[in-house]
Amino acid sequence: MSIAVYPGSFDPITNGHLDVIKRTAAIFDKVVIGILVNQNKKPLFSLEERTEMIRRVTADIPNIEVYPFSGLVVEFAKEHNVNVLIRGIRSTTDFEYELQMAQINHKIDGNIDTLFFATDPRYSFVSSSAVKELWSYRQDVREYVPEYVIQKLQEKESEK
Ligand code: PNS
Repeated sequence: MSIAVYPGSFDPITNGHLDVIKRTAAIFDKVVIGILVNQNKKPLFSLEERTEMIRRVTADIPNIEVYPFSGLVVEFAKEHNVNVLIRGIRSTTDFEYELQMAQINHKIDGNIDTLFFATDPRYSFVSSSAVKELWSYRQDVREYVPEYVIQKLQEKESEK
């Protein structure tokens, strides 16, 4: 069975992430989505909220599993008996950073390889941070995130 790990912060999941997930799920038998729990960063959405959003917006893709992880992504992949990591590349800036990460991860464990998806140009400037920033200035982000994420952003706002 071919399995790939797609790691990220997903705070929140964007249409760019979703596109990479769909394309990975079309190639691999199973996609394990790893949501980073970073103690040093305060995310907008809790781990539970991020997990729920991903589960909701990928409900129509059967070969997906979602788990949290902390620590090294290589360790997370090994725990799931996976040796392929997936990352999306939007730009040359992404490429430089991702290349370094891929090389570090391969150095930590020589069995781990990273495959890159060239982001769909429609999403080449979309990031979770940009979505949060735009939303905070009351800009329309419907093009960039699934409808369910819009609902969750609205709920966050009404909690304030
Ligand atoms: O969505 P992001 O924030 O771009 O995802 C980054 C992520 C989670 C893939 C990356 O930060 C990561 O793998 N973090 C776990 C720690 C790790 O293994 N780092 C690589 C070696 S330094």
